[in-house]
Amino acid sequence: MSKVDVLLGLQWGDEGKGKVVDFLAPKYDIVARFQGGPNAGHTLEFDGKKHVLHQIPSGIFHPDILNIIGNGVVIDPIVFEREIRDLEPFGVDATKTLVLSNKAQLILPTHKLIDKALELSKGEEKIGSTLRGIGPTYQDKIGRHGLRIGDIIEKDFDAKYQKLKEQHLSLLSSLELDDNFDEQEGEFFKSLELMRKFRIESTEYLINNSLKAGKKILAEGAQGTLLDIDFGSYPFVTSSNTTTAGACTGLGIAPNQINEVFGIFKAYCTRVGSGPFPTELFNEEGEELRRLGNEFGATTGRPRRCGWLDIPALNYSCMLNGVTQLFMMKADVLSGIEPVKVCDSYNSSGGVTSEFPYAYNDSYSPNLNEMHGWKLDGIPEYEGLPDNLHAFVDSIERSVNVPITLISLGPDRKETVLKK
Ligand code: GDP
Ligand code: IMO
Ligand code: MG
Repeated sequence: MSKVDVLLGLQWGDEGKGKVVDFLAPKYDIVARFQGGPNAGHTLEFDGKKHVLHQIPSGIFHPDILNIIGNGVVIDPIVFEREIRDLEPFGVDATKTLVLSNKAQLILPTHKLIDKALELSKGEEKIGSTLRGIGPTYQDKIGRHGLRIGDIIEKDFDAKYQKLKEQHLSLLSSLELDDNFDEQEGEFFKSLELMRKFRIESTEYLINNSLKAGKKILAEGAQGTLLDIDFGSYPFVTSSNTTTAGACTGLGIAPNQINEVFGIFKAYCTRVGSGPFPTELFNEEGEELRRLGNEFGATTGRPRRCGWLDIPALNYSCMLNGVTQLFMMKADVLSGIEPVKVCDSYNSSGGVTSEFPYAYNDSYSPNLNEMHGWKLDGIPEYEGLPDNLHAFVDSIERSVNVPITLISLGPDRKETVLKK
């Protein structure tokens, strides 16, 4: 009997999950996505090419690996078709290596309209959603009237679709529909034809039978822990459980089937969309991080907000996920920056705290600790990295009490350093 390793983001998403899943994939037989949907943008770089995946697991470029989109995911067939077509020039025939859970929820064109309408109605308090229909689709799932991928191969699919669409349209009746709605609906039905060519099944059986057969599985998270529907900075969160627990419900695996939990974080922090961000930099240092880290959203292209590493937040995320190994990304971006700062705790009206607050507001401020920076030269073995980077790694390990076992120094697969 084998177990499942989980890889997930510990901050507000975009930590570099796609890169690391692609890097680790050769050690696994199966890579499975367990939550989120096309709000995700996972970037992979190898052989001088950059690929961005939204719904398809990041193991897809390895022809011997089976990729699964689990029941916890919400899928937009139009985005799905685009992703499959984008893979074709690279010789990837996903119909052979990708399986879809029949229980994953379907994003309808009207879900995207509702997403947009709800965001507009929030005005200044908007979440900054990617507007991919995520919230409304999960709302329908929990409300028990969503459509699932398994429905698209049933005879009564069209009738079910019409029924849900009518409900959505009556909700939207006070608003104008997008001009291109008919076009979108046409595209949706055309994309379903492609989706029907894939294996659609109860992937919980596939996963558990594979474990019994000793196969190795990597569960790939989307978004990040601080965007979790329960523990993130609510309401500025996404609509799924982005934590390790989400891998259990989103794939159908028992908690005692989880082995390693790889928590990945940037050596600093970024956030796209609205919501509290304790260490955010509004000055030139923030601009510099954005420029050096090329911090622009992989899905929406929006500039990412940038700030220093937040240890209380990292501790919180490690606690919630049971992280067993930490992977530190983008340490190269800080190369040449002097000093490097890290938030150790927050000042609040009630004194100093290192707990992630229920609601971070103006009565809080970060306590920043300054550390010496480093200058990188190439991609050495761990021992060959600059002393100040070693000191940075040691200090985080002491604060969080979890070992850092991988350090990423660039977007390419090869720009990765392992620490034993
Ligand atoms: P994900 O959503 O967690 O998969 O992350 P994204 O792909 O949205 O964003 C991470 C960005 O950083 C992508 O553009 C990656 O190519 C890039 N990246 C990943 N790791 C590193 C790294 O170690 N250094 C640098 N400079 N870029 C990286
Ligand atoms: P990956 O997997 C970063 C953010 C949005 C918004 C909030 C809610 O690439 O790390 P939603 O579209 O879910 O209604 O948006 O969550 N968000 C992400 N931020 N990376 C992501 O995914 C994100 N997916 C959603 O910007 O603030
Ligand atoms: Mg991303």
